Amino acid sequence: MNKQQVTVVSHPLVQHKLTLMRMESTQTSDFRRLLREVSMLLAYEVTRDLPLVLNEIKTPIQSMMAPLIEKKITLVSILRAGNGLLEGMLELLPWAKVGHIGLYRDPQTLTPVEYYFKMPPDMPQRDVIVVDPMLATGNSAAAALSRLKTQKPLSIKFVCLIASPEGVDLLTSEHPDVPIYTAGIDERLNEHGYIVPGLGDAGDRIYGTL
Ligand code: URA
Repeated sequence: MNKQQVTVVSHPLVQHKLTLMRMESTQTSDFRRLLREVSMLLAYEVTRDLPLVLNEIKTPIQSMMAPLIEKKITLVSILRAGNGLLEGMLELLPWAKVGHIGLYRDPQTLTPVEYYFKMPPDMPQRDVIVVDPMLATGNSAAAALSRLKTQKPLSIKFVCLIASPEGVDLLTSEHPDVPIYTAGIDERLNEHGYIVPGLGDAGDRIYGTL
């Protein structure tokens, strides 16, 4: 694992809310609210190095040069659980455009197959933040990043809630240029590809389809 490429967001608010999300007893409505709150906190961390441009503005008192973000940001959700992380991020980055990538795992080959891909038209001028709550095997995330790179964005960052060591290893080896932001790296994957201890199936817990 290339540790320099991975940021574990250890802020107490993030860790507290993640623990509540992990609990089996946490119901769908609370899980969704917590995910929205954590995603805002992760958005704060992943945008920390955005450059600022001084603009002349007028306060009610006088003119001044004041900093603004002028970067074109695209948030890319890996369907369907990615949409749960998207909401809170969009609240902090309301000017961002949104892309979606849909992948399913072929039951025979176990490789990811694309069923949906829709991006804003001007991707070569855009910085991308890819969101998917669970970085498990890393296969879907790695395939999504490869597909995204065909659009030649300026930069790509990957944000998840929980990562497995296996997923981090795969993503950092296949995409060493993509920094990963996560609230935690758990112990391992189980034989079904779930993160242990994890929080279960993120999509099911967001949408109540357990
Ligand atoms: N996807 C999930 O939603 N949870 C896991 O633990 C692994 C993959």
